[in-house]
Amino acid sequence: MPARIIDGRAISQQIRDDLAPRIASVRERLDRPPGLAIVLVGDDPASHVYVRNKLKTAEDSGMVVTLETLPGSATLEETLAVVERCNASGDVDGILVQSPLPTAMGSNAAQQVFDAIDPGKDVDGFSPISAGHLMQRRPGFAPCTPAGIIEMLDRSGIAIEGARAVVIGRSDIVGKPMAMLLLHRNATVTVCHSRTRDLPRVAREADLLVAAIGRAGFVTQAHVKSGAVVIDVGMNRVTDAAEARRILASQPKRHALFERRGSVLVGDVHPDVAETAGAMTPVPGGVGPLTIAMLMANTVRAADLRAAA
Ligand code: GUN
Repeated sequence: MPARIIDGRAISQQIRDDLAPRIASVRERLDRPPGLAIVLVGDDPASHVYVRNKLKTAEDSGMVVTLETLPGSATLEETLAVVERCNASGDVDGILVQSPLPTAMGSNAAQQVFDAIDPGKDVDGFSPISAGHLMQRRPGFAPCTPAGIIEMLDRSGIAIEGARAVVIGRSDIVGKPMAMLLLHRNATVTVCHSRTRDLPRVAREADLLVAAIGRAGFVTQAHVKSGAVVIDVGMNRVTDAAEARRILASQPKRHALFERRGSVLVGDVHPDVAETAGAMTPVPGGVGPLTIAMLMANTVRAADLRAAA
């Protein structure tokens, strides 16, 4: 039987519907809607698309968004000055600095910028304070993608407690916080990476497999136990024809899209995994919408805390 496809767009909508009364309550108590500041530096096309989606969703949800754009030539100091202004603003509840920052800013720039964000406004959950709070299971802001995956599993009736979970990828933004959130929900967690020996064998032990490596169609049926739940965090733009054929051979409609446009977005999980998995998330329309929904949830929470202070 083919896998159940988990509808991330529908779950994201449910989460946003649940936020509506809380947004109304913030509006009443603060005499303004929750405020989100988005800082976008440079002209990375993917970042512009992500930011546009976040901005639109926040505005549609009734929040006020301040978009701070800086040119690709901006310095680290100029970016930090924008963050400081957002930290000091009484109208801003949440701050998001879209990554990646321009490479000219230096390899450590993103970390320095995340370090500067007021932890009470760190709705992306990337600051070291937020990471530490997550590690110790203290209240704080968890990064939106892994938090959204937990929400997605809960709302889909998928048990986490006692499950054997394997996370492929160890980034600060997804892999590591994902492992921590699953551990806090009493899963038994393994984190795999590029040096893991016999990765398919380890992945096949998973009841719950999270793929967050950024490699198109990397996870195949050889990585998946029959009936496992497979969560695909990947969002890879494929432009190579042979690669598109390898991944989309059983998806003629999407392959035709590639032929028309010369590129297509695919996840880290090969679509044929649907024949082995019990449930899986699609790309697009799976984890992506959840990330945005959790950004909204974190921003409402930040505003709520401000209103209660
Ligand atoms: N770049 C890719 N994903 C994200 C995200 O969730 N937040 C930010 N700030 N930058 C990103």
